[in-house]
Amino acid sequence: MNSYNIAVIPGDGVGVEVTEATLKVLLAAAEKFGFNLAPTQYEWGCEYYVEHGEMMPADGLSQLKKSDAIYLGAVGWPEKVCDSVSLHGLLLPIRKQFDQFVNMRPHRLLTGTSGPLKKTKFDILCIRENTEGEYSGAGGRVHMGNPHEVAVETSVFTRHGVERLLRFGFEQARQRSGKLASITKSNAQKYSMVFWDEITEELSAEYPDVTVERYHVDAAAARMITHPESFDVIVASNLFGDILSDIGAAIQGGLGFAASANINPSRELPSMFEPVHGSAPDIAGQGKANPVAAVWSGAMMLEHLGEAKAAQAIMAALNDVLASPDNCTPDMGGKATTSELADAIVKAI
Ligand code: NAI
Ligand code: MG
Repeated sequence: MNSYNIAVIPGDGVGVEVTEATLKVLLAAAEKFGFNLAPTQYEWGCEYYVEHGEMMPADGLSQLKKSDAIYLGAVGWPEKVCDSVSLHGLLLPIRKQFDQFVNMRPHRLLTGTSGPLKKTKFDILCIRENTEGEYSGAGGRVHMGNPHEVAVETSVFTRHGVERLLRFGFEQARQRSGKLASITKSNAQKYSMVFWDEITEELSAEYPDVTVERYHVDAAAARMITHPESFDVIVASNLFGDILSDIGAAIQGGLGFAASANINPSRELPSMFEPVHGSAPDIAGQGKANPVAAVWSGAMMLEHLGEAKAAQAIMAALNDVLASPDNCTPDMGGKATTSELADAIVKAI
């Protein structure tokens, strides 16, 4: 029997609720499809910070390194810990240290759900660079508190980083419709984004079967709302992909539906799976969180581990249960709680 060690970090707020729901579903799928999931839970996050002055222990990353995959709920509790501290203390170090350079986010409507665009059908795969670019963390502040105070934040684009991300996008496009949309802002950002365009151009010679379309990020943002069906695979930098995938989330019904995978394609280090949404302090602890994004991310984890049948069964179960209004959480206009929806998914599996 195949067995997988999963490092589970529920984190903060609704992260804890949607992780509990997801584990129920994943364990049910494991039982049904005959493999073993061994979760190890790590209670790291903002509570941990308040007690220990750090988001995770100093050897946190080496503890996670032993796992086959990492599952994360959400991190952040702005009342207790400044967001820039919580993000840079847990989530970003995992993405960077484990070289999870692909952040893959699928945007499509599940059966029974409708986003604000109502009947428009779309199936977008957003592939966001996840380790450098605008979120490189390079920068500094000087003359703090003085009128001439300066803040500098530098984007870092390397040939290695851009090329491997684009190549992953080309491969995905090849497996799907053969269409790749490259998102830049090369008119205004004349170094990094022109560099990105040049590498796209170079690689496209290796992928003659893939049609490349180029969009500036502002136009792409508008187009995702007016013509989402015109996109298939999207490749974008860390910042642009972050923003566009929240638009993707909105048009698929809200953040409660947006799943994501932080992937290290070499598989030498663990990949991490998490819903796109944050800890949602406004609804935390009330059983109102939609667990679909979290469960979908869990299905992406099983797919990555090689349990494709189990992943497909979870997606089929999601489509099944959401067709019934009784199973819908408040963000979908229903009354079901997080755990009631999770139980319905388990039953459908
Ligand atoms: P958020 O995603 O937590 O919430 C935005 C809005 O979406 C809220 O109105 C919330 O109620 C709603 N929402 C989010 N998830 C939902 C779900 N599963 N079901 C139903 N409604 C849901 O983003 P926000 O408010 O900007 O950030 C809150 C905290 O989360 C901050 O500390 C932030 O830094 C952190 N954060 C963490 C992320 C992560 O761990 N990957 C991602 C985004 C934010
Ligand atoms: Mg985001």
